[in-house]
Order: sequence, then C-alpha cells, then structure tokens
Amino acid sequence: MPQVIISAKNLTQKVELPHQTLTILNEINLDICSGEQVAITGRSGSGKSTLLGILATLDRASAGELWLCGQAVHELNEEQRAKLRLQSVGFIFQSFQLLSHLSALENVLLPLRLQKKFNYATASAKAHTMLERVGLSAQIEQMPKVLSGGEQQRVAIARALISEPQIIYADEPTGNLDRQTAKEIEQLLFDLNQEMGVTLVVVTHDLNLAAQCQKHYQLQEGQLVAALKNKERVE
Ligand SMILES: Nc1ncnc2c1ncn2[C@@H]1O[C@H](COP(=O)(O)OP(=O)(O)OP(=O)(O)O)[C@@H](O)[C@H]1O
Ligand SMILES: [Mg+2]
Repeated sequence: MPQVIISAKNLTQKVELPHQTLTILNEINLDICSGEQVAITGRSGSGKSTLLGILATLDRASAGELWLCGQAVHELNEEQRAKLRLQSVGFIFQSFQLLSHLSALENVLLPLRLQKKFNYATASAKAHTMLERVGLSAQIEQMPKVLSGGEQQRVAIARALISEPQIIYADEPTGNLDRQTAKEIEQLLFDLNQEMGVTLVVVTHDLNLAAQCQKHYQLQEGQLVAALKNKERVE
C-alpha cells in the first residue's frame, strides 16, 4: 500500500482586507502518496503559490489540518516546523533564489550547514556528487551571476535535494526558462523523482508538464479539482 505523505484536511486560507475577507483557499482536501508526481495548475491569482507555501510549512493556513510525514503540522510551533522543513522538505522557486555571494558549491552546501552534524569534508563530497548529477561538473566553483538560468535552476535543484528530503515542492520551476531548457529541467526533476523516490509536487502553467505527472489538479475558486487527462478530454 502506498503511504500518504502529505494530507490536507479542510485547509483554508483567508486574508483580512480593509473592507472584506479574501478567501484564497476554501477547505482543500488532498492526499499525496510517497513518491508520487503531482501537478497543480490554475489561473494566475488562483492561489497556487499560497497552497504550495502552506504545504511546504513556509506559511500557516488560517484553518484546517496539514499532515506531513505523519506529523500534525497545524499543531507544531515555528521551531518544530523549521526542523520538519529542514529534514523533509525541499523547495524550488521560479526565480531560483540562489545566494549571489556564494558559489554553486556553497549554495548547495547551505542546507547541510544548518544540520547539527555538519562535517565539511563529507558534505562537500555529497554536494560535488549532487552537482555532477544535475550536469554541473564544470560549474561547481562558479558564482551564480555567471551561470545561465538553466544552470542556476540546476543548482537550486541540487540544493533542494542535498538533504535527501522526502518531498520536493517546485513553484513554476521552468517559468523563467526557454522551452528547450525547461524540457531538460522537467526531465531532470522526473528522473530524480524516480531515482530518489522523492515525492514531487509541482505548480506550473505548462499543461504538457502537468500531463506528464501521475496526478494533475486544478485550483479553481479556492478548491482543488482533478484535471482531466488529455486522453479523457477528447473522448
Ligand atoms: N498576504 C496577502 N494579502 C492579500 N492578498 C494576498 C496575500 N497573499 C496572496 N494574496 C492574494 O491571493 C491570491 C492568490 O495568490 P497566489 O500568489 O497564491 O496566486 P498564484 O496562483 O500563485 O498566481 P501566479 O500564477 O500569478 O503565480 C492573489 O489574488 C493574491 O493577490
Ligand atoms: Mg504563484
């Protein structure tokens, strides 16, 4: 039986505006199993980044429950959530978000530096292996500003995976890349999902990418609906 690793129950996000309450997410229910590939699409402003931020424990929902790797995130304090995030979650952003004053190697090492048992030699060897795996053997010592967009995203992927998280959340990971580079990065994410068994939750505007995932949901009016597969659409 596949194990449920992410479970949202009636997850709701409301924001108080001066004259009204904005409901961004409205009682979302979602179960994702370990190792699954899940795509979330929806119109701009539909709440995709908000949902991903909450599922990644970066933000708190205003109501509802979130279970990650068996832990009740909604009952954890900030420190406990940070610990869970460090151990279990990797995040990839559209804008890469590398630290500009650190080399590719040092960017990838960062999550390991935050761990209690940090050993430079072991961590550095691991970061080298990870950077080689994402195709950056020749760029290990480079600074982000001299790397292309696709290369920067590869560094970000290596950084997200270095601590061997169980879940990777990616928010439009190919949104800033040309079509060919986007395809390569998508393939890399799928390959790593297969090789490492990491659960992949990806927000995208790219319907081809979404169609390749095992599950595809659309966010509409604060709710998740299962998207029809291409095949089902034409039938
Ligand atoms: N803190 C906040 N205060 C007010 N409104 C907010 C806040 N956070 C998000 N919103 C609003 O919630 C809606 C959803 O935002 P979100 O960034 O999640 O959308 P999205 O689906 O990721 O869009 P895009 O595809 O453009 O990235 C938007 O209308 C946004 O303006
Ligand atoms: Mg967004």
